[in-house]
Amino acid sequence: MALVIGVPREVFPGERRVATVPEVVTKLVKQGFRVVVEQGAGQAAQIGDEGYRSAGAQIVADRASLWAQADLVFKVRAPDATEIALLREGGALVSFIWPAQNPELLQQLAARKATVIAMDSVPRISRAQKLDALSSMANIGGYRAVIEAAHAFGRFFTGSITAAGKVPPARVFVIGAGVAGLAAIGAASGLGAVVRANDTRPEVADQIKSLGGEFVPVDYVEEGSGVGGYAKVMSEGFQKAQREVFAREAAGADIIITTALIPGKPAPKLITEAMVQSMKEGSVIVDMAAEQGGNCELTVPGESVVRHGVTIIGYTDLPSRLAKQASTLYATNLLRLVEDLVKTKSIDGDALRIDMNDEVLRGATVIDRGSVTWPPPAPKLSAAPPAAAKAAAPPPPPKAHGAPSGPMAGTRAAVIFGIGALLFLIIGRYAPPSFLAHFTVFVLGCFVGYMVVWNVKPALHTPLMSVTNAVSSIIAIGALVQLAPDLTKISTDLARPNEWIRWLSVAAIALVAINMFGGFAVTQRMLQMFRK
Ligand code: NAI
Repeated sequence: MALVIGVPREVFPGERRVATVPEVVTKLVKQGFRVVVEQGAGQAAQIGDEGYRSAGAQIVADRASLWAQADLVFKVRAPDATEIALLREGGALVSFIWPAQNPELLQQLAARKATVIAMDSVPRISRAQKLDALSSMANIGGYRAVIEAAHAFGRFFTGSITAAGKVPPARVFVIGAGVAGLAAIGAASGLGAVVRANDTRPEVADQIKSLGGEFVPVDYVEEGSGVGGYAKVMSEGFQKAQREVFAREAAGADIIITTALIPGKPAPKLITEAMVQSMKEGSVIVDMAAEQGGNCELTVPGESVVRHGVTIIGYTDLPSRLAKQASTLYATNLLRLVEDLVKTKSIDGDALRIDMNDEVLRGATVIDRGSVTWPPPAPKLSAAPPAAAKAAAPPPPPKAHGAPSGPMAGTRAAVIFGIGALLFLIIGRYAPPSFLAHFTVFVLGCFVGYMVVWNVKPALHTPLMSVTNAVSSIIAIGALVQLAPDLTKISTDLARPNEWIRWLSVAAIALVAINMFGGFAVTQRMLQMFRK
């Protein structure tokens, strides 16, 4: 029997997004799922019922019957009391949950013996990027923040010299260069503004630069990276130095966009009332952290207010203001999640049993068949280099002369090298000389490859793999040599290729071409993600 995915209409006031779109329904149906969508679910996102129906979904008018027949419910906003009551006993739900902020919600869902996957709890590791709904929403939010700021700001973003006078470019200051901040930097510099940005994690400086912004450092040495690619709470000394920088920047900025947040913590107050007062009349602040209390002291969550002549926008529904785009990206994140559930055999027919050994699914599952499994164990990998820890650590004991450095050190490495040398000796004794030459190159290749990959940050493994994959297409040279009759003629030890070797070489070149061009294209796309 096919698993039924139910998509109700969002009931949160003002929410325009919907958890699936027709393009994704087609793919889910193709994978053997039955999709049931509530009548009018996509209306606010400009997606009509007909679109869902022609994609293969069944439209249901009765809310209660939709919740009753769904094995797995897809939602955007965390369920309210009426939705929790509608959730089938032992049913499953995928949604934003914010477990740290909503402990009672977890208890209520657990009481229904539900299995709940929280899209806000997907660990930020490279393998999980495709289902990182927080990032896709923050990306839209960052873009929309700039558009809202432009709407409230009384001038052009780009500078120009006209007959009627000189227009200086708008000066935009972005605080927090995470996903939302980077999207805002890209959008604002695309519109022609002069963009400056600050973040407690100094490693984002290059990303800010690549998007056309300028990194504003705080002159205080403290590493800002915490676990899982997120920031950490900074010391009092750092905060004081940062406030001085922000006071200077605020006085010169036309627009401030703040996105500073550490997950599960209230937003740090970074823009004080005095800083707002120091800004020019008509300036704009967009406080993206409004929902978590706001980065600005004067923010009113959900509203746009004017204080000391500065418009302070605290909208908490920025992605919902681009509802169709946001719904499409969110629906794609959910599709990738379903693919992962199928791949890990967490979905078997119409039964859902989450594979808790899978790091991504474990991180995102906050309730498993009625028992609360949040918080998950700390992520093993961090995208940021653990530089501060290294600096603070006591100096290592002096190494024995000639001991290898790097990941394999000490006696273990010596034993491995000893065994390797012995093996070489045996092979050298019995194998033909030509084999030994090739074997030496092979062993060196393995060693160099291992050392290179070991020293690359885990967050960069995916682009590294795709580019090394493309580089491995060097084997095309072998096939080319086989195809070039002139080359083989002058070679004394290569026999003239016969017909089937020739065709084998043609096939090899075709396959290698896919590998080579595909690998470089994928790498290029990944790098583009950082650029724009
Ligand atoms: P993120 O975790 O990727 O980025 C936050 C950034 O702020 C990190 O780079 C972090 O290093 C930096 N940061 C933390 N504390 C800081 C400090 N004291 N000073 C300077 N930088 C600091 O988060 P993401 O996904 O970019 O989201 C940012 C914020 O935007 C969150 O509060 C999120 O809830 C909010 N958001 C709001 C929306 C809305 O409609 N208002 C829509 C989407 C996201």
